[in-house]
Amino acid sequence: MNAIFRRRSIRKYTDEQVSEELLEKIIRAGMAAPSAGNEQPWHFVIITDEKILKEIPKFHPYSSMLPGAKVAIAVCADLNLQRYDGYWVQDCSAATQNMLLMVDELGLGSVWLGVYPTEERVIGMKKLLNLPDNIIPFSILPIGYPGEKKEPVDRFDKSRIHWNIW
Ligand SMILES: Cc1cc2nc3c(=O)[nH]c(=O)nc-3n(C[C@H](O)[C@H](O)[C@H](O)COP(=O)(O)O)c2cc1C
Repeated sequence: MNAIFRRRSIRKYTDEQVSEELLEKIIRAGMAAPSAGNEQPWHFVIITDEKILKEIPKFHPYSSMLPGAKVAIAVCADLNLQRYDGYWVQDCSAATQNMLLMVDELGLGSVWLGVYPTEERVIGMKKLLNLPDNIIPFSILPIGYPGEKKEPVDRFDKSRIHWNIW
């Protein structure tokens, strides 16, 4: 619960390496997400190659922090694993958010970088990571030890709550 309210987008990282053990914990949290009909359509590409991290900002304009991270995880969907057409987007969103919460819990920092549905980013990632036709890149999470501190924000807004009808 603390992680939900404490989590912020962290875009600066220290040089400290993130261990494989922690990466597995983060992915385990992603795989624990709910999915439509329990279809679990996700795959996770762990990117540690600096050359690959440096390529992404060339087609993704809001990802300049990526080369500053030692590692990133790309959340992808396997369309062949779909049981309910199109619900993979919500499944991958739930997985991404679970991962961000685990990142916070582990004392690490990350930010959700949107890939799908922006065509240029999807095509760029598919080429760069050599993804098969049935695999759609959905989001990217740079991960590192925080190089900046952000305070929690309370975004509660009563005017957005509607009871029974609008
Ligand atoms: C679907 C989605 C796509 C996002 N894409 C980017 C992005 O490409 N680059 C980026 O720096 N932040 C991105 N963000 C992070 C948002 O800017 C951030 O969550 C928002 O400003 C709220 O700030 P907070 O995460 O610190 O609470 C994205 C967030 C979501 C949910």
